Amino acid sequence: MTDDFDVLRQPLKLGALDLPHRLVMAPLTRNRADEDGTPNALMAEYYGQRAGSAALIVSEATWVTQQGKPYPRTPGIATDAHRDGWRLVTDAVHAKGGRIVAQLWHGGRVGHPDTSGQDLVSASDVALDALTIFTPTEAKAAIPAPRPLTLEEIPGVVRDFADAAQRAIDAGFDGVEIHSANGYLLQQFLSDTTNHRDDAYGGSAENRARFVAEIVGAVTDRIGAERTGIRLSPLAPAHEMAEEDGGDTYRALATTIAPLDLAYVHLLAQPEHPLTAELRTAYGAPLLLNTGFAKHTERAEAISFVADGHADASVVGRAFIANPDLYERWSQDAPQNETISNLFYASGPEGYTDYPTLAEAEKAVGTA
Ligand SMILES: Cc1cc2nc3c(=O)[nH]c(=O)nc-3n(C[C@H](O)[C@H](O)[C@H](O)COP(=O)(O)O)c2cc1C
Repeated sequence: MTDDFDVLRQPLKLGALDLPHRLVMAPLTRNRADEDGTPNALMAEYYGQRAGSAALIVSEATWVTQQGKPYPRTPGIATDAHRDGWRLVTDAVHAKGGRIVAQLWHGGRVGHPDTSGQDLVSASDVALDALTIFTPTEAKAAIPAPRPLTLEEIPGVVRDFADAAQRAIDAGFDGVEIHSANGYLLQQFLSDTTNHRDDAYGGSAENRARFVAEIVGAVTDRIGAERTGIRLSPLAPAHEMAEEDGGDTYRALATTIAPLDLAYVHLLAQPEHPLTAELRTAYGAPLLLNTGFAKHTERAEAISFVADGHADASVVGRAFIANPDLYERWSQDAPQNETISNLFYASGPEGYTDYPTLAEAEKAVGTA
């Protein structure tokens, strides 16, 4: 690893997005939306606090349809009220000179009928095994088995993503990121362990990739490839996900979506894993990199992703939660606030909008 922060100071073009540097804020679910999924003033404050620092903010995962709502108080982009709530957020981000894309999400088999009011759907009827989930009334509810989406239903879900992308642009977002990672619906179609279909959407790598490819096609048709990115987590185990084909589905997906020229591909992967470099070449788009939950991304690591030639930009999650001015802190190699993880999914401003910038912390010490 090198310690050359200058590599992160370089500007970067991602399709229609011009980034002033290369430190991107990761998508981070924080459960502070209203019950019906409408974003609010508190969320606008949180994103606005980070907008002047992050080169680009990827919003928390945002469901495109009520059926895809996995957890209470997560935001949606499925109604006009959602759109108007997100407008508060995008205005706050743009007022600070920042950029924000909406992460478009469908939980699939991760969720609960008590939360969405609808049945769980997935590629096949493969249930989560040990995982429990928050519902509006329970902290650890068992998750029922999903039912497979029918061939007749699939075009409607593809359209939900395109409609949500349009609504995101109408809400003032600078683009969208299609959430095809972390074991949610899109990865449930990609994975050979959760996709047992024997129709056009299962059986071969090409067929498993079809649903995601159709969503990418519909979204780029609607809002333009230069405003569309995708997040993928090949071979990663989130939400009991397993992929046993060694990356073939991701290779197949690349052959259909690389020609579209997406604004970026966002991989959750290990930088040294051979698949990372292979997929970077196969997709051909600028690469954003994050290694996933197992270990907090640290400054030296974020530098190394770009300095060692693995990616075009580094994506950081938990350090941005605790440090609204993370880029400035890391730029000066200054101390950081401690991340309070038991408030990640709490309610209200505590552990959300009350982390001080370096300047605020120094002022507080000065007046104490
Ligand atoms: C509180 C929390 C919420 C998260 N929510 C999302 C999400 O909504 N969408 C997503 O793709 N990843 C989500 N992630 C994963 C992060 O984007 C990121 O991959 C992970 O935190 C590892 O990066 P870090 O070590 O820099 O935090 C979440 C992680 C945390 C800690």
